[in-house]
Amino acid sequence: MTQTILVTGGAGYIGSHTVLALLERGDDVVVVDNLSNSSKKSLETVERLSGKSVVFVEADLTEAGSLDEVFTKFPITSVIHFAGLKAVGESVEEPVRYYRTNLMSTLNLMAAMAAAGVWDLVFSSSATVYGDPETLPIPEDAPLRTTNPYGATKLMIEDICREVAKSDSRWQITLLRYFNPVGAHESGDMGEDPLGIPNNLVPFVMQVAVGRREKVNVFGNNYDTADGTGVRDYIHVVDLAAGHLAALDNLIAGCRAINLGTGNGASVLDVIATTAAVSGVKINYEIADRRAGDIATSLADPSRAHAELDWRADRNLETMLTDSWRWQSRHPNGYD
Ligand code: NAD
Ligand code: UFG
Repeated sequence: MTQTILVTGGAGYIGSHTVLALLERGDDVVVVDNLSNSSKKSLETVERLSGKSVVFVEADLTEAGSLDEVFTKFPITSVIHFAGLKAVGESVEEPVRYYRTNLMSTLNLMAAMAAAGVWDLVFSSSATVYGDPETLPIPEDAPLRTTNPYGATKLMIEDICREVAKSDSRWQITLLRYFNPVGAHESGDMGEDPLGIPNNLVPFVMQVAVGRREKVNVFGNNYDTADGTGVRDYIHVVDLAAGHLAALDNLIAGCRAINLGTGNGASVLDVIATTAAVSGVKINYEIADRRAGDIATSLADPSRAHAELDWRADRNLETMLTDSWRWQSRHPNGYD
């Protein structure tokens, strides 16, 4: 039976890869996005690659009622909720905008879902809810705490989902805690297209490789890690997209959290060296001060996703960076 999935934020980086995967397996998709951090061109590429069309509704989820028509017009069966603001540093500068956007969007969405009798929800949470972890790799039952407004919105939304699921047993909610999404679709025509100066390591390194920036600053080389630089669990965005399909297919009553990561760590210097190897370009870097709020190591325990979703990430760092480089070198200025 064909399902119709509402994907909020579906024009964005992770959303567009997930929309493609949904279309490729035969689902119908309705995307709601206000294009505040994305371009409609991502969805045009999705349509070209899949040979299928996507319904696109340009709307701001913070506006009450923005979804009423979507639920009456289309036979939505479930929702994947990506829409929101995601830059940690910006959230410290503009906390009101972050709380307002992320919380209001989710509250409006959940009210519209309940009114329409749609109870199946997959939400984009983040490993940021673990703060500076005590246990590595990090299991889902690790203590939750946050250190910035962005992280606080993710934790608040998780709490809201847990309360809402308790209030009505028809809800089936999965909170996916992503580790560090990187990579791009293997076509080289879809990828991450950050506005302005990238905050994240991989997009920054790619812009150095393609000649848009001179060098990357390595934020600290005195962490308690093998080479002193920060270690992260990078996960290919195509594996992450597949994780959303597995989450949709395995929803159960109530609300549960699931890590999406590989369980393997890579340091900043590993990312730089692997990018140089796959691109053939020397990556200039300089050791700089630690970035405020950064932790030494973040690493997922992905065993719950293996057991409960029958999902595992199978692309390694080299594939992630090869695919990021293909996207970056074919589209040095992103979708524009
Ligand atoms: P993205 O910015 O590319 O995508 C988010 C999309 O939401 C954008 O297309 C944007 O235009 C849209 N949007 C923002 N505010 C909206 C609003 N009020 N109404 C409608 N649409 C709105 O980001 P992404 O990297 O694809 O992230 C998707 C989700 O995953 C976010 O919730 C993010 O917090 C979460 N997440 C991302 C990462 C990461 O490193 N990329 C890590 C953990 C969690
Ligand atoms: N780094 C550099 N130079 C840069 C950028 C980053 O050395 O120019 C280092 C960081 O110090 C860190 C590593 O590269 O050690 C990864 O940094 P990212 O900014 O790419 O990723 P973070 O782990 O800091 O943050 C990501 C998401 C957040 C999310 C967090 C936890 O961007 O949204 O993971 O899930 F909150």
